[in-house]
Amino acid sequence: MAKLVVVNREGAETEVEVKSGFSVMEAIRDNGFDELLALCGGCCSCATCHIHIDPAFMGALPAMSEDENDLLDSSDHRDEFSRLSCQVKMSDALDGLKVTIAEED
Ligand code: FES
Repeated sequence: MAKLVVVNREGAETEVEVKSGFSVMEAIRDNGFDELLALCGGCCSCATCHIHIDPAFMGALPAMSEDENDLLDSSDHRDEFSRLSCQVKMSDALDGLKVTIAEED
């Protein structure tokens, strides 16, 4: 289990426990947040699971695929800390990860 801190669009922080191997998107969705649409269900084809990663964890994340990069380009709210949450799998190395749900496009 790893700890994940989710910041919603209002700035409220919630801590959830996530089993290793589950994606950040699944963890957010399964803990009742309704701001993250995740319309494609994690197939990396919708970009509605956009989050901003705490800068301290950027180096610990797996590299971004070309598809993820292209999809993020479709967002007006992309920044250097943007990722698609369905493409980030939780692991012990990411224990304590803090993510902010991105603004709606
Ligand atoms: S849920 Fe669609 S790209 Fe992540």
